[in-house]
Amino acid sequence: MPARIINVEDARMLARRRIPKIFFDYIDGGAFSERTLRANTADFDRWALEQRVLRTVPKRDLGTTYLGRRNALPFMLGPVGFLGLYAANGEIKAARAAAAADIPICLSTFSINTITDLRAVSGGELHFQLYVLRDRELAREFLADAVTAGVSTLYVTVDTTITSVREQDVRNGFRALQHLSPGLLCRLATRPGWCLEMLMAGIPTVGILKGHPEFGRGALAQAANLSRGIDPNLSWDDIAWLREQWSGRLVVKGVLSGEDAVRACDRGADGVIISNHGGRQLDGATSAISVLPEVARAVAGRAEVLIDSGFRRGTDIVKAIALGAQGVLLGRAYTYGLAAAGEAGVSKVISVLRDEVDITLALMGLASIDALKERGTSVLRPA
Ligand SMILES: Cc1cc2nc3c(=O)[nH]c(=O)nc-3n(C[C@H](O)[C@H](O)[C@H](O)COP(=O)(O)O)c2cc1C
Repeated sequence: MPARIINVEDARMLARRRIPKIFFDYIDGGAFSERTLRANTADFDRWALEQRVLRTVPKRDLGTTYLGRRNALPFMLGPVGFLGLYAANGEIKAARAAAAADIPICLSTFSINTITDLRAVSGGELHFQLYVLRDRELAREFLADAVTAGVSTLYVTVDTTITSVREQDVRNGFRALQHLSPGLLCRLATRPGWCLEMLMAGIPTVGILKGHPEFGRGALAQAANLSRGIDPNLSWDDIAWLREQWSGRLVVKGVLSGEDAVRACDRGADGVIISNHGGRQLDGATSAISVLPEVARAVAGRAEVLIDSGFRRGTDIVKAIALGAQGVLLGRAYTYGLAAAGEAGVSKVISVLRDEVDITLALMGLASIDALKERGTSVLRPA
């Protein structure tokens, strides 16, 4: 099946056919009118790439340093909830694909497999994403597990203190899901391959809640209760609190302005991730790529700047690096691959984007990602 994936959109179309509509729409959709979702991809067109010819660049080096490590590629797998519902043991499959490509993966709080499960099967670079809960003791427990699993980098996601409305999810009844009703079972049965895989893997649960029966039974009820536990009053003081709790690298995910990026640095963050949650939260917010120059300028020399939201092509990644990002996080792109074809699907999406970045560098006359970082915006033109 991965042979039929020649770009990320192919993976998306295969995912649509393979997994139940209720889950595909959850991955694919954005908030309200989906303006920000569309802007995230469209705004890459604001910049054109400089074509340079007759420079010899026989082999390009795509390796580069971000988040404390030299990674084989300028992009990594970001935190996406419920990977284990799109493919059995989805988090483990994605982690294996990331390790094989020598890039980091960040595990979401909302995962079926735990960080301990991932460490058991992967020697790769593991990061962990935390939603800060009102129950700070529980948050501390999650952090202790991450330390034991050798997590180097903690992401605190700050753009989701309340969940926005994704209208397709409302229509599908996704947000009201608590248990498997007869109606839902009928809808799931339209994807027999996925059903069989899930049945063989057993009833999924939110891994991090093992030992916490108060959150209910089964992934759907647990997720609903865990969502309700996210602290809606999170403030900059809590970032300072988290800084005290976590001695590893700390990055704040969900920053969309230079001023907030500076605040994150002032509270001790080592980096920021420019993100609008893939257009799933504040509809009408700016695209991530359009604020990258502002954020990079604001924290230059103080913190690492990474970015996600809307990355579907190697050219998108090259533009972000030229505009000052140290690295790029994939969200839906690899999730489509996972939903389409499991671990092989994730690996395929990674290799498709690797090839696209490689070809783009070659045609720009650039020998490496590090050379691209050095040239910066000088390789871009207003489109
Ligand atoms: C299905 C889905 C689930 C997500 N779950 C989380 C999550 O649990 N934690 C988090 O920090 N971000 C989460 N995100 C946001 C991603 O980390 C990332 O910001 C976003 O997907 C980037 O946009 P893109 O998908 O257009 O690349 C999720 C995104 C999707 C599509």
